[in-house]
Amino acid sequence: MTVLGIETSCDETSAAVVRDGREVLSCVVHTQEQHRPFGGVVPEIASRCHVRLLPGIVARAVEESGVGWDGIDLVAATRGPGLASSLLVGWSFAKGLALSLGRPLRAMNHIEAHLHSVFLDPAAPPPDECLPRVGLAVSGGHTSLFRLDAPDRIAALGRTVDDAAGEALDKAAKLLGLGYPGGPVVDRLSRGRTPREGLFPEGRVREGTLTGGLDPELCWSFSGLKTALLRRVQEAPPKNDDEVAQLACDYQEAVVGALVRRCDLALARTPGAKCLAVGGGVSLNSRLRAALAELCAARGVRLLLALPRHCGDNAAMVAGLAGMGRGIPSPEAFDLDIAPSWPVA
Ligand code: KG4
Ligand code: ZN
Repeated sequence: MTVLGIETSCDETSAAVVRDGREVLSCVVHTQEQHRPFGGVVPEIASRCHVRLLPGIVARAVEESGVGWDGIDLVAATRGPGLASSLLVGWSFAKGLALSLGRPLRAMNHIEAHLHSVFLDPAAPPPDECLPRVGLAVSGGHTSLFRLDAPDRIAALGRTVDDAAGEALDKAAKLLGLGYPGGPVVDRLSRGRTPREGLFPEGRVREGTLTGGLDPELCWSFSGLKTALLRRVQEAPPKNDDEVAQLACDYQEAVVGALVRRCDLALARTPGAKCLAVGGGVSLNSRLRAALAELCAARGVRLLLALPRHCGDNAAMVAGLAGMGRGIPSPEAFDLDIAPSWPVA
């Protein structure tokens, strides 16, 4: 099964060809730079950019795959969650393409695709040997925790009630004058430093907060962290680059600590858990990778991290997941609208 995947849920325009769910034949990703001066993604700029670039990127992905248009068995595209105007471009394009090629279409969930991204690494074990597992999708748009008992049995365990972890890092970087996106800069500045303890208390989700029925202990709140940083900077403005870097390191530690503690608790509550699978842009973070490795070693669980090129938004994870038989198939798919807040479970 050779799948052409399309991903346009935010500000990456991407197309990929993946065979049998795991073998990436091609993957073209364009990250839009136009948003940088705004310190965040501007939806209309993003969708207009997708409109301009997507046809060329899809053609390139097919060419680089070497299979040609005739070698494509299925078209799969992200239907949600994400920015509505961005999703509309990729999803409509995919419908037209599937019709013109005379191939079936599949509607894919973006978060579930992040959870699959770890299996695009040829060194990863087969997905069905990693059950049950805990999955964490952590990016600039989402922070969610799941338990997977079977490919089609996914239970939501936790999620953020306000900002995503990447968003929290991006906002901190902006406040510290480090530019956008902030995650990679914060990561770089923090290397080799020792975080000061207790400077940024972990945000807790209180009982009674709207968590959609999820256990508050497995949910996150990151918005207080950003306020704490703002207060700290106002009270004691960092005097030089070194003090800025130290604050970034302390802040990163609070974000990483919050992520790792929820993973630990989720693993503790998943009897027989074999793996922890982590995808999304923030999973590139070197401190998070090290802390998760420590956690998994202590728990005797295998850690599955996506290859760096598959951590951020990409179409290979979408095509791969479709190749595993997931997603909503046609003919139903042809009648589906986009779903900007489509839950995985
Ligand atoms: O998955 P992604 O490309 O797009 C979304 O779906 O959001 O993730 C982007 C996010 C941004 O918030 C960015 O700051 C963060 O991932 N990020 C990082 C690192 N690289 C990217 N966060 C921490 N450390 C990194 N090395
Ligand atoms: Zn994403």
